[in-house]
Amino acid sequence: MKKSIKDFELYGKKVLIRVDFNVPMQDGVITDDHRIISSIPTIEYATAKGAKVILLSHLGRVKVTEDKKRYSLAPVAKRLSEILKKSIEFVPYTSGSIVEEKVSSMQNGDVLLLENTRFEDIDENKESSNDLDLGAYWASLGDIFINDAFGTSHRAHASNVGIASHLPSGLGFLVEKELDILESAIQTPKRPFVVILGGSKVSDKIGVIQNLVHIADYILIGGGMAYTFLYASDISIGSSLLDREHIDFCKEILEKHGDKIILPIDTVCAEEIMDNVGTRTCFINEIKENEIGVDIGYSTVKLFRQYLEQAKTVLWNGPVGIFEKESFATGTKSICEILKQLDAVKIVGGGDTGAAVTMFGHEKDVTYISTGGGASLELLEGKSLPGIEVINEK
Ligand code: 3PG
Repeated sequence: MKKSIKDFELYGKKVLIRVDFNVPMQDGVITDDHRIISSIPTIEYATAKGAKVILLSHLGRVKVTEDKKRYSLAPVAKRLSEILKKSIEFVPYTSGSIVEEKVSSMQNGDVLLLENTRFEDIDENKESSNDLDLGAYWASLGDIFINDAFGTSHRAHASNVGIASHLPSGLGFLVEKELDILESAIQTPKRPFVVILGGSKVSDKIGVIQNLVHIADYILIGGGMAYTFLYASDISIGSSLLDREHIDFCKEILEKHGDKIILPIDTVCAEEIMDNVGTRTCFINEIKENEIGVDIGYSTVKLFRQYLEQAKTVLWNGPVGIFEKESFATGTKSICEILKQLDAVKIVGGGDTGAAVTMFGHEKDVTYISTGGGASLELLEGKSLPGIEVINEK
């Protein structure tokens, strides 16, 4: 079992906490602060115990110097300070004498946020390639390392794996909660256990399908990926998305586990993917050559409802239509509404699925929305996450 932040004496200690503040932003304004809010219990626990809290996070993917303007953590520092109702020190650097001075002048209970760790990627990709010196440098700023960045735990970067290799380490409350919820869903699910998979590419979900097909009672498939499964079942899909490289994979899954895989029986079609375009709903074997499947249809919603109404555990990863466009969003909205009515454990993967549930105002109608898109996917694939592996055992 991994050490927890609770296993450490924090009073007067400099505690480096890796958080995932990689939040969506538009013109410098945070559009969803779910990840910041999710990190608060660990930060507040540490400050209440008298620690000097030094936060590290990445934001976006930083490749060239111009990216720095777009990806500064300054707006995050402001939001964090509002949520914590206390002033926090934002240091607009990731290393150097100013960072060291600010850290050494911290008082117990203070919170300091360093600038985006990926600014170090401009210099030979140091953060993302887990440069040994960079990890050791950041570790030299503190006494204890806590990983509370679940969303980044599938990465082996200098700011998580690198630091943890040099300091006593433990998990924060968010990571513990994510592991508890996601691992118990796949290790000891209350049954029937129904998985909803969507999203555009089959390739993104191969590992999840291979793992969950042995665990789940049913896998309901929607989204762009459904059309490759339908094609593999000899259905004409018109101009819908087809992942040619994975047709054989879909065929094999359907041959071996066809009884568990539930595919759409009707679909919303459009001739173009754009706002306010005309749509038509048809049976799945009636898609015309020039039509693109953009959402599940009403009969599929009804079919999926029959499986979901029986479920005691539901895991949803991937929207079932192009929900960002109003005309193609009904299927994804309907799934949210069905989930609302269920008396079951309802877990939503991060990334697009979490964004859809939030956009349609259903975040309170599910048990949990993961803060990790890629990380939750890798966990569901049965992989171990390097950012968690590296943490000390009790
Ligand atoms: C995420 O948003 O999935 C995490 O913050 C990881 O970000 P990355 O995919 O850029 O490494």
